[in-house]
Amino acid sequence: MLFSPQTFVRPRTKYLGLCVLLLSAAGSLTAQSAPPAKPDADRFVDQLLAKMTLAEKLGQMSQMSYKDVAPATAAAATRTGNVGSFLFVTDPALIDRLQHIAVDDSRLHIPLIFGFDVIHGYHTIFPIPLAVASSWDPALAERVQSMSAREASAGGINWAFAPMVDIAHDARWGRIMEGAGEDPFLGSAMAAAQVRGFQGPTLGTPNRILACAKHFAAYGAGEGGRDYDAANISDEQLNNVYLPPFHAAEQAGAGCFMSAYIDLQGVPASGNRMLLHDVLRDQWGFRGMVVSDWASVESLTNHGFASGPEDAAARGLHAGVDMEMVSHVFRDNLPKALKDGQATIADLDNAVRNILRIKYELGLFTNPYSARTLTAAEQSEQQQVALHAAEQSAVLLRNEGHLLPLAHALHSLAVIGPLADSKPDTMGSWSLAGHVDPTITVFTGLQHKLGASTTVTYAKGVEIIRPSTSIFDGQFPEPAPTLHTPEEKAAAFAHAIDLVRSSDAAIVVLGEANNMSGERASRASLDLPGDQQKLLEAAVATGKPIVLVLLNGRPLNIAWAAQHVPSILEAWYPGTEGGAAIANLLFGDANPGGKLPVSWPRTAGQEPFYYSRNLTQDREDDPDRYWDTVNTPLYPFGFGLSYSTFTLGPIHLDAASMPTNGVLTVSVPVTNSGNVAGDDVLQLYTHQRAGTASRPARELKGFERIHLRAGETRVVTLTLRAADLAFWSPQTHHFGVEPGVFDLWAGDDSTAANHANFTVLP
Ligand code: NOJ
Repeated sequence: MLFSPQTFVRPRTKYLGLCVLLLSAAGSLTAQSAPPAKPDADRFVDQLLAKMTLAEKLGQMSQMSYKDVAPATAAAATRTGNVGSFLFVTDPALIDRLQHIAVDDSRLHIPLIFGFDVIHGYHTIFPIPLAVASSWDPALAERVQSMSAREASAGGINWAFAPMVDIAHDARWGRIMEGAGEDPFLGSAMAAAQVRGFQGPTLGTPNRILACAKHFAAYGAGEGGRDYDAANISDEQLNNVYLPPFHAAEQAGAGCFMSAYIDLQGVPASGNRMLLHDVLRDQWGFRGMVVSDWASVESLTNHGFASGPEDAAARGLHAGVDMEMVSHVFRDNLPKALKDGQATIADLDNAVRNILRIKYELGLFTNPYSARTLTAAEQSEQQQVALHAAEQSAVLLRNEGHLLPLAHALHSLAVIGPLADSKPDTMGSWSLAGHVDPTITVFTGLQHKLGASTTVTYAKGVEIIRPSTSIFDGQFPEPAPTLHTPEEKAAAFAHAIDLVRSSDAAIVVLGEANNMSGERASRASLDLPGDQQKLLEAAVATGKPIVLVLLNGRPLNIAWAAQHVPSILEAWYPGTEGGAAIANLLFGDANPGGKLPVSWPRTAGQEPFYYSRNLTQDREDDPDRYWDTVNTPLYPFGFGLSYSTFTLGPIHLDAASMPTNGVLTVSVPVTNSGNVAGDDVLQLYTHQRAGTASRPARELKGFERIHLRAGETRVVTLTLRAADLAFWSPQTHHFGVEPGVFDLWAGDDSTAANHANFTVLP
């Protein structure tokens, strides 16, 4: 599948005080644009609005967390029309009951909308979004989220708080696992694909749910990788790096945006009218609804931005928040703010309209009940897609001496490590409604695959001490520690190494406990937590063939492993079918084809770290700017091995130049020079040699994942549009394509050497 984002150039520049306003980039050719509101929706909504009391309007603007209120309070608020939405209710019978109260008993019969963090699956857990991005296959991302949507919809959920389309330049940031990594072009493709997956061709498609692009905007740019921290980035970075995936999500029809917790350039995102109104509505034409992040309207006061709750309510509303998640400063303070002239009824009515229109377009007024049981065929399709997605998402980082794939003829295999037989750690963070029981761990996956002919033994060896994360406490079962005394720990360690010593080979499954990434889960160190490194070194010291399988939500410090462990498979958190997928990959029944969506650092000290840096004085990437490490990644963005090898021929361009609205066709022959079928991802990178602003040394501008039989050659043709080269210039405050000479590289990672150049003509 070819993904070729199109740039939607709307060269308008606005000024708000001193701040230059933003225009952004990419969307997808294949994306449907936001569906025009049905005229009957507007009429219906206006008629309904005319009947509503102020309290009922404020009710629609309020979202309650079901788990944080007494059931009787939730029911009463529903009956009186004082709530428009719930999150964190997953019992279909309860959802049904609440919806009946809203539809049958409330004065205006307005249905509720039930939201949930459907991040990478609902009951069936798919690989985490960072993993799915590693597939470099937007069609797969779409399929995965269509499955998530179907299962969530069958559970009574109408709305996913996903996709998270925040760009992450810093692996210390725990939420890097929820996004598509560091690159705006890949991120835009994944954003649009996920929106299509959740929503289907239009809002209201059966078995699909509302998507919500979050967290608008630049949440991933929090300083130091610290969650919730301020983002002090330039307009140039905001426009060219952080906004494009949001624009792509909007162009793909996302019906909802969620504001961010953070302070952006000194203005909290949930009170940032420039973002939520001027960019989102005026410039992009968004007609959906904006929900705040959890209590982020109330937090406008914590930021030292609003003077108190009334000010927070008025400024949150004026900025463009339509629905307030969990806190109730809107409900409690807007009546007074209206009286005081701090808020206007026009803004309030608009917010209610946006919410009601989405409810209408989702079909909730005609069909408010979606709960049902999936058929056996649907259920089995969920599992198949979960298996396939996990196989497609894994990235083979190292394979010295072709240790992998392992031979089926092994007599004995040791599977060790604290994550090797842990279901929650196979599912990963944000699996809040995930079914733990059916999850296949690496150990059980290998047992099933190898049957009785190979003795598969397991020992955890060491434990990871899991931090308590107040956000998820009690929602996700964390394995309790069983090794308490030094003697118990030493015995467990020795037992695991004994198993390695007495086996033909060992799979060492290491990484992070699931709750070490995700929300409020940043890390200052990227080292393997606990004694895992020691376990790995002891396993390697046995001299047995060792394969390291990583389960984690971010790149980790594996500099030692990269030199001493022959084979390393990055499986991320692979989800319900993860262990089965890993077993298939390790034994060659699936061939790894994933590529890194993030640059892999050598050490946390290199962060923030990404490939698309601007060139500087020494032009070429000087490896020696630190005296205690090098400048280069351990593994570059776009990198991943296969059991095959691929050879690329020269780049062929159909023309040497194109006008600023033109296209070039780039053809590159790719040969599978190995002896098994496999996948490669052809990637195109460009660099603009001169312009009104310096541009990154390389920027991804096209890619396609291809499957080739052993020995097969295919000429892969990608279209490069001049519009894809547009950027927002801090000199001109304009978004556009600048004529000039461009370098072009084609290859299968971001260090691609295959070079050509072309000119964009004035
Ligand atoms: C806070 C998170 O930032 C957001 O991503 C999530 O959707 C909400 N909580 C609801 O869980």
